[in-house]
Amino acid sequence: MRGSAPADGDRLRWLPKAELHCHIEGAAMPALAIRQAERYGIDLSDILEAENYRWHDFTSFLAGYDRVSTAFRTEEDFALLAGDHLARLSACGTLYAEIFVSPDHARAAGLDAKAYVAGLAEGMRQAEAQSGIVSRMIVVGVRHLGAEVVETAAEFAARCAHPLVTGFGLAGDERQGRPRDFARAFDIARDAGLGLTAHAGELCAHEAVAETLDALRPERLGHGVRAAESPDLVSRIVEAGIVLEVCPGSNLALGLYPDLAAHPLRALHQAGAKVTVNADDPPFFATSLANEYRLAAEQGFSEAELVGLTRTAIEAAFVDAATRRQLLDRLQLAALRLGAPAAPA
Ligand code: ADE
Ligand code: ZN
Repeated sequence: MRGSAPADGDRLRWLPKAELHCHIEGAAMPALAIRQAERYGIDLSDILEAENYRWHDFTSFLAGYDRVSTAFRTEEDFALLAGDHLARLSACGTLYAEIFVSPDHARAAGLDAKAYVAGLAEGMRQAEAQSGIVSRMIVVGVRHLGAEVVETAAEFAARCAHPLVTGFGLAGDERQGRPRDFARAFDIARDAGLGLTAHAGELCAHEAVAETLDALRPERLGHGVRAAESPDLVSRIVEAGIVLEVCPGSNLALGLYPDLAAHPLRALHQAGAKVTVNADDPPFFATSLANEYRLAAEQGFSEAELVGLTRTAIEAAFVDAATRRQLLDRLQLAALRLGAPAAPA
């Protein structure tokens, strides 16, 4: 094992963190969703379970996600949601966070895409003023809504010219449609200079990961973990420097792997892949970003290697060069303060 001693419990709380993969509506904590639902006369009681949400498979998870989304309807609601999420992240040492934003979910709740982004941006601005946490938005298209809808999301991302919208991605049910169906959407986003990421290798096997790389040419993959089933594909990912937005807690909750020991995060890292850890939809999967770092530590990542995960995330962040430099400087300082300089990523 490279780096320093294994990370221990409480020190993880102060470890500098970064997150690249979290769906904003999926980050709505039940306490906030209940208040919103009461305001709009919505009943979410059948999917609430203490501090988390109840669902039984991927399809019912997506349905629950859609229902929680309808409890956020105005610019102010989304400012509140982004602020709540980022405050929670900054309280566990997070320096940088990207959020997936879905204009289609906002539209279904009655809000147009521009107002949705403006509301989220206001919450992000306030969070940065309060705690220093830097954040950006990645507009996602929902693949099970079809290629045309995803292209409309890409066109919005390309044209909105909002300084905090820096990426485009593909989310939704990976079992529907083929990667090539979304090539035009990715071309639109690429031509606009946006960073690109696509969910792949979560519900579908390694062939879907290869197809996604071929058809969409993203620089990052959401999940991508099932690439571990193919040594050739892992080599390709390592050689191409593709960054994996790994979400171990989400994968375990959805039953992709029977237990943490079977999860390929550590093996992918040891094979030389650039990996990061992320909470995906925290209260849906009873997790948090701090818990994802804890899972990595349980798999054997040393403190220095955990800081290395954060460095990989900042290096792959969809930000300009000056912001990246500042974040890397802040990371170095925070790691030195902790006495855990980053191991080589
Ligand atoms: N949308 C929200 N969470 C998702 C996930 N884990 N996979 C695909 N689409 C999503
Ligand atoms: Zn996701």
